Amino acid sequence: MIRKYPRLCSPITLGQVTFRNRMFSAPLGGTDITHDYCVGRGSVGFYELRAKGGAAAVTLSECVVHPETDHSHMFHLDDNRPGSLSSFTFAADAVRRHGAIASVELSHGGMYAGSYILDSKPGEKVVKYSSSDGVLEDGTEILALTKELIADIIKAYGRVAGLAKRAGFEMVMIHGGHSWLINQFLSPAFNRRTDEYGGSFENRRRFMLEVIASVRDAVGKGFPIEFRMSGAEGIGGGYGIETGVEIAKAIDGKVDLIHVSAGSHHSGFFMTHPPMFAPHGVNVRLAAEIKKHVKTPVATIGALNDPEMMEEIIASGKADVIYMARALLADPELPWKVMENRGDEIIKCIRCFTCMAERVQTQTRRCTLNPLIGREREGLEVLPAPKKKKVLVAGGGPGGLEAALTAARRGHQVVLCEKGDRLGGILNCEEGISFKKDMYEYASVMERLLRREGVDIRLNMEVTKAYAEAERADVLICAVGSEPIVPPLPGIGDENVILVNDLPSRRGEIKDSVVVLGGGLAGCEAAVHLADEGKRVTVVEMRDALAPDANVRHRPILMDKLKELVNIELGLTALRVTKDGLVCVKKDGSECLVPGETIICAVGQRPLTAAAQALANAAPRMYQVGDCTRVQNMTAAIYQGHHAALDV
Ligand SMILES: Cc1cc2nc3c(=O)[nH]c(=O)nc-3n(C[C@H](O)[C@H](O)[C@H](O)COP(=O)(O)OP(=O)(O)OC[C@H]3O[C@@H](n4cnc5c(N)ncnc54)[C@H](O)[C@@H]3O)c2cc1C
Ligand SMILES: Cc1cc2nc3c(=O)[nH]c(=O)nc-3n(C[C@H](O)[C@H](O)[C@H](O)COP(=O)(O)O)c2cc1C
Ligand code: SF4
Repeated sequence: MIRKYPRLCSPITLGQVTFRNRMFSAPLGGTDITHDYCVGRGSVGFYELRAKGGAAAVTLSECVVHPETDHSHMFHLDDNRPGSLSSFTFAADAVRRHGAIASVELSHGGMYAGSYILDSKPGEKVVKYSSSDGVLEDGTEILALTKELIADIIKAYGRVAGLAKRAGFEMVMIHGGHSWLINQFLSPAFNRRTDEYGGSFENRRRFMLEVIASVRDAVGKGFPIEFRMSGAEGIGGGYGIETGVEIAKAIDGKVDLIHVSAGSHHSGFFMTHPPMFAPHGVNVRLAAEIKKHVKTPVATIGALNDPEMMEEIIASGKADVIYMARALLADPELPWKVMENRGDEIIKCIRCFTCMAERVQTQTRRCTLNPLIGREREGLEVLPAPKKKKVLVAGGGPGGLEAALTAARRGHQVVLCEKGDRLGGILNCEEGISFKKDMYEYASVMERLLRREGVDIRLNMEVTKAYAEAERADVLICAVGSEPIVPPLPGIGDENVILVNDLPSRRGEIKDSVVVLGGGLAGCEAAVHLADEGKRVTVVEMRDALAPDANVRHRPILMDKLKELVNIELGLTALRVTKDGLVCVKKDGSECLVPGETIICAVGQRPLTAAAQALANAAPRMYQVGDCTRVQNMTAAIYQGHHAALDV
């Protein structure tokens, strides 16, 4: 077979271990960490899914090496605690039985460690440690590690690495980036010590080298050790790529893979987890620069999901290994799709940050596009249905697309009707918004998959009660969505007003100065997009906050973009539209004009409840999914569509 991406698909040997391809699964904090820090069974399933999907290595993260000074509620590997070693062994097994190499990330958060103490006593105070004394933004005191504690932590790295090897892991990753403890020694922004662990670069790198030596001692020659570093920190007083190169040179030959990530916990997520506003592969340049200076293989990471781009990175010698985190949540099967020349079937991560936000909000994992994530062991796999049925799906938005695909994969006969002339539903509003291209293209990938599964797609076809009855389907899945809310304001129907949903079809009419009425997620993103295009944009919002419907990880990044590019008017209620702009009333009752030639109306959607109810008796069984039940988001629509189809 001729592989379309031969370099990406070629094996690589690190130490004495051969990996089946160049697509590695990056550290992703597990789904369930037991209260006593073991790898929960849910997490085992979480990591296993990526091994099943063809990744060459799957990295379990983060394993805290020294719980005495790092109180993060992360995994601990401790052979004195019943259940700990066995839980890691089950996890390593689950990865290895699918042909992937199991790796584990050894970490110490230093000053950014968590504050969880198992069986803590009332009033017990968590102490945080770093290379130097200090105070965190929240007032927590940071103590500089004593030399005794440093020596103890270095020993602990080795001890835990040895245990990982015993549990069946065949590689370890030392986390030396993102302003975790090793980075807090390397970085001049954190390290103000005056002893042999601080000051000159020779001194600042000492802790890192001693940790690597301790791990090597424990695992022996030939066992691959990987070092995760930030190629550049991107923070005031931090180091840039020149020091990044020096760090890599210092470990060249001492580790088996230099994993070049970027950024700092201190600076937010923009570099460490490139958001939708950053280009794909934005950090590759750092790996490429480092690769010029070292003999050890180099890995790169950061918003990579396109096989063409990944192949080029390896072909042009910028890196030897491609790591992916979010891309393998959205589509764990990505590596097999690449291997089998099915790159056009990859469901690409849309960088919405639901996966990270969900951790904060519910202590679980979830992926907008992949309903299985975080629920891998709950029996949700798509299995053939015991009895084949005819399924009629009404609506080709995210909910309907997912329902149709899942039902077809289960072997049902599926007809998907869409009232409009193309699939995608509201996602078609994202056409032309450069930073939402992956979201817009999701519908095209789904359409391809549906056609390959033999789904009968009928465009320009509105499902009415009569139509559904004539189809005589066993099951009707109703995913008819919502409609835009148009506020009853004088002038709202004038030519200078454009609904946010109509941006793609009316983009030619948008003038240079724009007022966006409505500061929810949709309005804010439209504002950023238009400002990016060079328009003068003001967002008008009645409430005191913008985009409350954005998740907790995406929102701060969106806010930064808004502050940089857009005028923001909070606490203003729109009264009427004129040709000069939007007349509003302030909280004190006075009126003002927010000037703008074009008004973008983005005040929200309302569910098509009545339309959905009208179909209630059109088939023996009817499910309603997505926005027609309650206006929410893609995550809810896809999840509900998937589950309706599983229940058929
Ligand atoms: C501008 C904008 C930006 C957004 N951005 C995001 C975002 O970044 N992240 C996020 O998670 N969510 C976002 N949302 C919300 C998200 O798009 C919706 O929650 C999601 O699309 C709902 O999916 P759905 O399948 O239920 O409905 P829809 O996407 O509305 O699809 C319903 C489809 O059904 C069709 N239809 C209606 N009646 C019938 C009928 N009788 N027969 C056949 N077809 C019919 C419609 O034509 C439509 O194509 C955004 C919404 C808007 C308006
Ligand atoms: C849900 C999630 C959990 C993560 N957990 C960890 C972690 O425990 N340790 C770590 O070093 N990085 C973690 N990361 C960062 C990733 O390893 C990776 O560096 C980052 O997401 C950028 O890669 P990507 O663009 O391919 O997602 C996590 C990322 C995500 C999305
Ligand atoms: S939740 Fe969003 S950002 Fe996270 S992996 Fe899924 S699509 Fe990507």
